[in-house]
Amino acid sequence: MSASRKQQHVELAVNSDVRFHTKTSGFETIDLPYNALPEIDLADVDTSTRFLGKPLSIPVMLTGMTGGYPDAERINAGLAEACAEIGVAMGLGSMRSALDPNTDTASFTVVRPFASTIPVIANIGAVQLVEEHRAGRLHAALDRLISLVDACAVAIHLNPLQELLQPEGEPRFSGVLNAIEAAVITSPLPVIVKEVGAGISGVVAQRLADVGVTTIDVAGAGGTSWAGVEILRREAADKGTAFWDVGIPTAECVRQCRGIVPTVIASGGIASGTDAAKALALGASMVGVARPALQAFMAEGTDGLCTLLRQWHTDLRRWMFLTGSPTLHRFVDLLHR
Ligand SMILES: Cc1cc2nc3c(=O)[nH]c(=O)nc-3n(C[C@H](O)[C@H](O)[C@H](O)COP(=O)(O)O)c2cc1C
Repeated sequence: MSASRKQQHVELAVNSDVRFHTKTSGFETIDLPYNALPEIDLADVDTSTRFLGKPLSIPVMLTGMTGGYPDAERINAGLAEACAEIGVAMGLGSMRSALDPNTDTASFTVVRPFASTIPVIANIGAVQLVEEHRAGRLHAALDRLISLVDACAVAIHLNPLQELLQPEGEPRFSGVLNAIEAAVITSPLPVIVKEVGAGISGVVAQRLADVGVTTIDVAGAGGTSWAGVEILRREAADKGTAFWDVGIPTAECVRQCRGIVPTVIASGGIASGTDAAKALALGASMVGVARPALQAFMAEGTDGLCTLLRQWHTDLRRWMFLTGSPTLHRFVDLLHR
């Protein structure tokens, strides 16, 4: 992905209204079951968990956003600092540019020194993965991405809707499942398959599970519309909004994917600690956030992002107390018990 395109994406995500027009994440229709006899003290509630072998204070990650252009170094350093301060995981944006040994990788390598204790997740697009696989370079490519950032996992993003609408997009998705299977076999680390805001259905999750994928970030509809971002980047004559709201609402993705793979990450339109709590109660074991975290950072720096994540932590604790759930083990999947 070109540097200027990644920069435009950040600028549009921060400064333009690129939310879905009418579709929502679906969490607003979910009510958590209030328990008037929780039989625990608020002080007993423990929101901590482990993810990819590392401890987190809450089951939250920033999902992949940026890298590959000069200002992304400042952004990724600041995001990493906040993630480490609070104890949440951090995904990097597409590392396609970093596959070229002649490009500057500082915007990616900057993260680890700020965040030595948390899981950091490398990222590559499905289209790029297929290219690397067909060229016989899959092993070397994954090795490079992992070692550059000392990653704990590799995320592969599926974005057919975005590629379809992107002015310079590459809507070539044949061979993706095969390349993902090869990546699962080749990668020394867990492979996470994610969408970018249009959602992963239960049927797709099953096809991914069948080739060995164990962690899916549903990245469903209801938050950032990547169709919307790309429509705003198109020429005036081709700004039709017919596809702006395409996608499966995040809550519906979680309902469909739970039980198919061991780890479901709920993301896409998670806008508060209450949304996060609902996603966990619905069966996700982690929650992801992108645009709201970036906006908090761009508005008020690392402190702004820390404030947002602390509020999520507080609200998750409150929901666990109000539902009589001292641990995440008791809280995850609560709506299905
Ligand atoms: C500025 C920006 C850049 C993004 N770039 C990537 C990327 O490079 N790779 C990726 O997998 N997802 C990318 N995403 C998608 C997010 O990880 C996430 O799936 C999506 O935005 C939905 O989450 P949200 O509603 O919390 O924003 C990006 C999101 C934002 C806001």
